[in-house]
Amino acid sequence: MKHIFEQVERNINRLVENKVNWAESATEEQMQKAQNGELELMFGSEKAIPKEWLGDLKGKKVLCLAGAGGLQAPLLACAGAEVTVLDLSEKMLEKDREIARKKKLRITLEHGNMCDLSRFPEETFDLVLNPPSLFYVPDVLPVFKECYRVLKKGGSFIMTAVNPIAYVCDYVEDEKGGYYKAVNRMPYCSADFDNQDGWVEYGHTMESYIGGQIACGFVITGYVECQMEDITELYFVTKAEKN
Ligand SMILES: C[S@@+](CC[C@H](N)C(=O)[O-])C[C@H]1O[C@@H](n2cnc3c(N)ncnc32)[C@H](O)[C@@H]1O
Repeated sequence: MKHIFEQVERNINRLVENKVNWAESATEEQMQKAQNGELELMFGSEKAIPKEWLGDLKGKKVLCLAGAGGLQAPLLACAGAEVTVLDLSEKMLEKDREIARKKKLRITLEHGNMCDLSRFPEETFDLVLNPPSLFYVPDVLPVFKECYRVLKKGGSFIMTAVNPIAYVCDYVEDEKGGYYKAVNRMPYCSADFDNQDGWVEYGHTMESYIGGQIACGFVITGYVECQMEDITELYFVTKAEKN
């Protein structure tokens, strides 16, 4: 199993070197707004995580899980949170390190795998924020279990994921410009992890996202979704609470 994560890290590092758009850091303007109490965390081009889900983060302990890249963590820190980022990619973490140094923000950076949060004691965080990344793990349940364990009672888990429908269809090229065809059963696995350079990606079911969180003890209290510019890309975000 370890080799899957090593391969994912190589894939991510390569994308960061090629300046993929989801590795863009927070802008000055976004950070200024967060400092002025107007934190906005986008999860699509037009939609933000509802402000009331985040509340006042001053002094709150936040884990930005698989959320390096210099975007969410600096904004959360500007909003007054005590932020820890755990991510598999050193190249993504380097972006947070650089921005934290420039802006004199205190952000704790941890290189690690979101399936194993054993370095954090029970009930450490008030909020765990997980940007789109669960498509890199074969099983979401260990992640949800760990998130539940490291959250304080009354804490929240906000996760973003790709709607499974995105994995049902593949693009078929033809002389008329191509079309999408339903070809995959869910759960989906790109199954390229035997090839050293292959892309590794998993499409999980809604049962595992929603049922999985509930099975770990979470109470789901919020759901929003967003269709991206590429209309085949649909994302959703849930808010879950540990009572
Ligand atoms: C699409 S990026 C999300 C972060 C980005 N800031 C954003 O706003 O979209 C996915 C992140 O998940 C991380 N990641 C993938 N698999 C991981 C794992 N098993 N454990 C920890 N981080 C992981 C990647 O290194 C990458 O930084």
